[in-house]
Amino acid sequence: MKAVIPVAGAGTRLRPHTYTQPKTLIPVAGKPIIGIIIDQLKAVGVDDFVFIIGHLGEKIRDYITNSYPDLNCEFVHQYERLGIGHAIWSAREELKDADEIMIILGDSIIDGDFKALLEDPHSMIMIKKVSTPGTFGVVETDDQGIITNIVEKPKIPKSNLAVVGVYKIKEVEKLINAIQYNIDHELKTLDEYQLTDAIMAIINDGVRIGTMRVDNWFDCGKKEILLNTNRMLLEKATYPTDDFPAYFNSIIIHPVSIGTNCDIQNSVIGPHVTISDNVVIHSAIIKNSIIGDYAKIEDIVLDDSIVGNDAAVKGFNQSLNIGDNTEIDFS
Ligand code: UTP
Repeated sequence: MKAVIPVAGAGTRLRPHTYTQPKTLIPVAGKPIIGIIIDQLKAVGVDDFVFIIGHLGEKIRDYITNSYPDLNCEFVHQYERLGIGHAIWSAREELKDADEIMIILGDSIIDGDFKALLEDPHSMIMIKKVSTPGTFGVVETDDQGIITNIVEKPKIPKSNLAVVGVYKIKEVEKLINAIQYNIDHELKTLDEYQLTDAIMAIINDGVRIGTMRVDNWFDCGKKEILLNTNRMLLEKATYPTDDFPAYFNSIIIHPVSIGTNCDIQNSVIGPHVTISDNVVIHSAIIKNSIIGDYAKIEDIVLDDSIVGNDAAVKGFNQSLNIGDNTEIDFS
């Protein structure tokens, strides 16, 4: 089994963060998204990884090789961002001898049964019922959960079952050939070579692909979902930290994740805050937020915020002169 993780996208919906930081390296609950995905896969015995890199790809390579020095992994460049199907095609040489592959999008954190997915003898796709199927890849299934149709972001969805971004494919050669055909004939959907189109082609060719429902799915492509993911993961036992030093004159409201070498004074931190390493926080109140490495935060109240690496923010407070019987609401 080879895990294939496309992380070449530009992450435009998460700008300005993704101008300098690849989406998959943004920390949630104390760990970059890609770290959470690698740990999940290693836990169920996946040993071989192919990362498809592009935008800021060297940063991703550095993180993985430094944090997982023993990981058996290859890095492949996708030189043009032409869609997820094209990303997988870019790794065709690395995949051609694999007996099966698991494709996982590098910005999706899935709370699902990966062990059962690996053990199932058939090709499988993880899915979840959603209220806005038109914004995702959507599958229709028969009464045994076998996919009969898969469409990328349909205008009129015929089901509410969305593809969450995890695909176990046993017919690797057929899949690569289907993507190759679409590229050769410039068959795009929404101007990209879609993985879902190639999957539909192999289904039409007789391949049987089952479905597996997941409990939770965090597509971390947007700020609100990223903060929501941070909150949900910090509620789980494995993610928060509680072994940090006593910070001067400060209150920590759990759950939080605080990195090393932070200087926190006269502040209230939490709940649901991820603070990376080497961060300075003085006289601040922070909740529901993600703070990057070497950020400097002073004299401010932050809620539902993402502060990037090396960013500085301070002094958002008011000087007021308020008379008796006045009511002011800044919310
Ligand atoms: P997305 O379309 O959600 O990510 O792709 P994006 O393109 O980076 O984000 P936006 O839409 O501009 O905000 C899902 C995953 O597939 C990868 C992305 O890096 C992400 O991990 N991807 C996408 C590629 O590797 N190559 C592509 O051409 C497109």
